[in-house]
Amino acid sequence: MSTTNTYESISNENRKFPPAASFAANAHIGSMESYRKEYNKSIEDPHAYWAEVAEDLHWFKPWDSVLDDSSQPFYKWFDGSRTNLSYNCLDRHVAEGRGDKTAILWEGEPGDKRVLTYADLLSEVSRFANVLKRLGAHKGDRVAIYLPMIPELAVALLACARIGAVHSVIFAGFSSDSIRDRVLDSQTSLVITADGGYRRGKILELKKIVDAGVQDCACVHHVLVVERGGDEAIDCPMQNERDVFYNNVSAKVDAVCPAEEMEAEDLLFLLYTSGTTGKPKGIMHTTAGYQVFSYLTAKYTFDLQSDDVYWCTADVGWITGHTYIVYGILQNCTTQVMYEGAPNSPDEGRFWEIIENYKVSIFYTAPTAIRAFMKWGDDWVTKKDLSSLRLLGTVGEPINPEAWMWYHTVIGAERCPIVDTWWQTETGGHMLTPLPGATPTKPGCATLPFFGIDADVLNDDGESVEAGILAIKKPWPGMMRGIYGDTQRYESAYWSKWGGQYYFPGDGARVDEDGYIWILGRVDDVVNVSGHRIGTAELESVFVEHAAVAESAVVGVPHEIKGQGLIAFVTVIEGQACSDNLRNQLVAMVDKSIGKFARPERILFSSDLPKTRSGKIMRRLLRDIAEGRELGNTSTLADPSIVENLQLQFQQGN
Ligand code: PRX
Repeated sequence: MSTTNTYESISNENRKFPPAASFAANAHIGSMESYRKEYNKSIEDPHAYWAEVAEDLHWFKPWDSVLDDSSQPFYKWFDGSRTNLSYNCLDRHVAEGRGDKTAILWEGEPGDKRVLTYADLLSEVSRFANVLKRLGAHKGDRVAIYLPMIPELAVALLACARIGAVHSVIFAGFSSDSIRDRVLDSQTSLVITADGGYRRGKILELKKIVDAGVQDCACVHHVLVVERGGDEAIDCPMQNERDVFYNNVSAKVDAVCPAEEMEAEDLLFLLYTSGTTGKPKGIMHTTAGYQVFSYLTAKYTFDLQSDDVYWCTADVGWITGHTYIVYGILQNCTTQVMYEGAPNSPDEGRFWEIIENYKVSIFYTAPTAIRAFMKWGDDWVTKKDLSSLRLLGTVGEPINPEAWMWYHTVIGAERCPIVDTWWQTETGGHMLTPLPGATPTKPGCATLPFFGIDADVLNDDGESVEAGILAIKKPWPGMMRGIYGDTQRYESAYWSKWGGQYYFPGDGARVDEDGYIWILGRVDDVVNVSGHRIGTAELESVFVEHAAVAESAVVGVPHEIKGQGLIAFVTVIEGQACSDNLRNQLVAMVDKSIGKFARPERILFSSDLPKTRSGKIMRRLLRDIAEGRELGNTSTLADPSIVENLQLQFQQGN
């Protein structure tokens, strides 16, 4: 684990912030007593608990059983039911008289604006769904989505869900090679993209990136292109027959499209995420369980009330956007802000201006962003009126207490509770989180389990301990159902520890005297850079593709803003020069294979890596070097001089 700094800072943390009485008075869950009562109910009788929650939603056909756990770890939730998530996000509200409520207040980076009510969104989604059908997409087909943060991104997900196509969103910062790998792995027949999108004043030409990605993918029959362009013409080459402009087809289709009746365990979406090997995993989420879990976690964690204006700054390309921009938020008929661009465009006050203008009441962002805001200075914030805010949230990585306190005082004016939500792509929704009207919070702590989540901290033998590895001991509705095309990897990565009894999320944790769980970071070779998961093995396999490279090892180190950064150790084949030129080539390879966000902070060359006599790379020592620590035990090394040379090189800044 490369979490020493985090651990040291949080282990001394004992400040506690109870929710204000005024907040608790109006909250869904307004006291620890009601949290405990509800929690105990959810754990003692999960069937009754989840059935009652599911009653809030629309079902074409009710379930036969709430949970079928006869074939662990292949759980089934709400088996026998038929439902549709797009219906529950849209039609249900329109049918019950809430169609005029604003769903999305969208703002583009250049300042263009759009407002969509729930009724508008229903017709946009229906039209989009009809376009997908026209292009031959059917129930079960995989559809890749590579779009900027424009309303069509949410619309595209909901349109897929409406017709039962399986969406696979690829964050628009990924490279062509990443698109290709995901498209091939899931055998995608249709790719949805845009001519471009705006980021920090520049246009990203997304269609061109898609073209390079799918050029050798025979499975792709169509590329559907949404025109984001506005006034500026974006260069967008189109390939005859394969490529279609959305506007050309949408004008020819109906704005009504009945929602497909989906089976409970029908695949809803794939979302690729990094693991400990070089190949990202297609995490599978299915319909009914994810529907219920996303609905309830959004409602309680954000204490959603009918007059809230919610804003989550994540991209829909990550799980946070799937669950807490699209499915969880829309099922609760909440009004939300959606923003396309960067927080510092045109200047560092952009987010605060958005909060002031739209009177945002709930703000959900990442620790990396908070640390950047801190660095930019309080003046950007204090110039604006943020009095509409009533609740703050964080997600994606451990938040250091200093950043938490800044968020609490400068953004929250010591008035707003902070929900530090721990969860994963695999869990579908919040697992550990304060409930804002009930849980006294502590800076840097995700606190207590959500309803229905049986969390514990265990040692390797499965015994409860104060500091060890986080385990989830019971299934929950939003849980992943597998890895696309790789059942064996699903079992070995998540269900092989502790005799296959419990879910293994891969995070270290500690329990304090109040039973609060503190997340300490990953215990595997996954690094969390700015809240983005990157497998060190992914980078290593990129580097060894270079003809001059013999071997490589990548480790994560604490980083002031990003939470963690990557340091790469690369050995070159004899006779090859370790030059800046080679370094630049390796960085370019990372950009091409994964995306710019995965660039290492430093690349160090050496003639060899520290290995045991049996040839195993000792990453622990590489982490010691990269974190500037004294070297741990080197007695098992085959050649101790290697590590000493590396340390010297690191210190000299080479
Ligand atoms: O290590 C944990 C960290 O992010 C990992 C999950 O990454 P991903 O699937 O990309 O999902 C991110 C958004 C849910 C976890 O295994 N993580 C996530 N939230 C927190 C966190 N670490 C500490 N505190 C959190 N609140």
